[in-house]
Amino acid sequence: MYNPFTPGFAESPYAHYRQLRDEDPVQEHPMGFWVVTRREDVTTLLRADLSVEARNVAPHPLRDAVEAAAGGTLAAGGGLSMLDRDPPDHTRLRGLVQKVFTGRAIAALEPKVAALVDSALDGLAADGGGDLVPALAFPLPFAVITEMLGMPETDAARVRELTGTLVRGLEPVADVELAAAIGAADRELGELVGQVIAWKRDHPGDDLLTALIQAEDDGAVLGADELVAQVVLLYVAGHETTVNLISNGAVALLRHPEQRDRLVARPELVGGAVEEMLRYDSPVQSTRRITLQPVRVGGREIPPGAFVSCSLGSANHDERFWGETADDFVVDRPGARQHVSFGAGPHHCLGAALARLEGRVAFAGLLARFPRLSLAGDITWNGRINLRGASAVPVAV
Ligand code: HEM
Repeated sequence: MYNPFTPGFAESPYAHYRQLRDEDPVQEHPMGFWVVTRREDVTTLLRADLSVEARNVAPHPLRDAVEAAAGGTLAAGGGLSMLDRDPPDHTRLRGLVQKVFTGRAIAALEPKVAALVDSALDGLAADGGGDLVPALAFPLPFAVITEMLGMPETDAARVRELTGTLVRGLEPVADVELAAAIGAADRELGELVGQVIAWKRDHPGDDLLTALIQAEDDGAVLGADELVAQVVLLYVAGHETTVNLISNGAVALLRHPEQRDRLVARPELVGGAVEEMLRYDSPVQSTRRITLQPVRVGGREIPPGAFVSCSLGSANHDERFWGETADDFVVDRPGARQHVSFGAGPHHCLGAALARLEGRVAFAGLLARFPRLSLAGDITWNGRINLRGASAVPVAV
């Protein structure tokens, strides 16, 4: 039975996933949701024409009672961002953001990313090492998305606190206090972004926010609340996930010094190594879909109205697809890019190219400067089930 509260799960869920893939790969959970763990089934569902809107989830007595007691929902999917919307709204919102979130805009950021990495590494060099999370993994993606959106100087510490609380809404856990805190963080972040949008109207620039505001001004394409929701999504998705790519990727490298040495010897492998980091320890462990009619997958029929958790972390370790080295970390694994860490189908991550750029520049810089980078203490995990990542990675340089 899927149980993310199994001891050791937060540190490594992979043995648990293997058991699910072998014994019950399309599992109907007594708590009123389904869990799908084999790669083939996960990709089938993600690419199918399914819903992401929570209002389509059928009632379930036990889950509804738990949610009522917790004062919140266990299932994300009630928001105005594209991540929570079906066509035609999804198509309209994604199309608008995609138009301004171009490959050109992302590639243009590379010098900025390289400069940020360099200054983070200067700090580590001066201190003879330190914790990689506050030194690099967190500040880099946060600065990059802030720059790309064209956010003014804000209270970064407060924003980080708010986004950290907001993403708890993606965790399969709810309690009264947490639900209230998530609601409050959502409101405060919405207000803050609303103020920034008002400021931006008077201070337009060559940035994402200005382009999105123009889209709103162009007519009934993007409502005011929708604009705020897309900006909050980009802000949050822009860093809470990439932090885990850098921290979990570093953990994988540091725990496999022979792979680190291989990458140091052949720096041109770094792009593939980042794909392997994404596969080996997915920064986002699951995404969800909601069935609108009966769906046959993995020899079972999922009824309409089911909330289906698609386990990306498990699909990325499925030995049916990856072979017997599925659990190994191999920086030059052929086909590593076929991981599903960015999801698949209509909701495939819009920021994948940006995340890849940040990962590539960060690890290329890190190993060029510190080829003997090593662990200098215990790793701490952030305790999250979905946006699971290392929260402290002490290193010696
Ligand atoms: C959606 C993962 C970085 C923006 C998603 C989804 C996943 C994901 C799993 C849902 C896909 C699905 O349900 O099929 C990741 C990972 C990242 C990352 C692992 C870093 C390593 C970013 C960045 C941005 C971003 C840097 C933007 C700045 C988005 C957006 C969506 C999304 C806008 C919604 C797409 C839609 O609903 O159509 N991401 N993401 N992500 N991501 Fe990312």
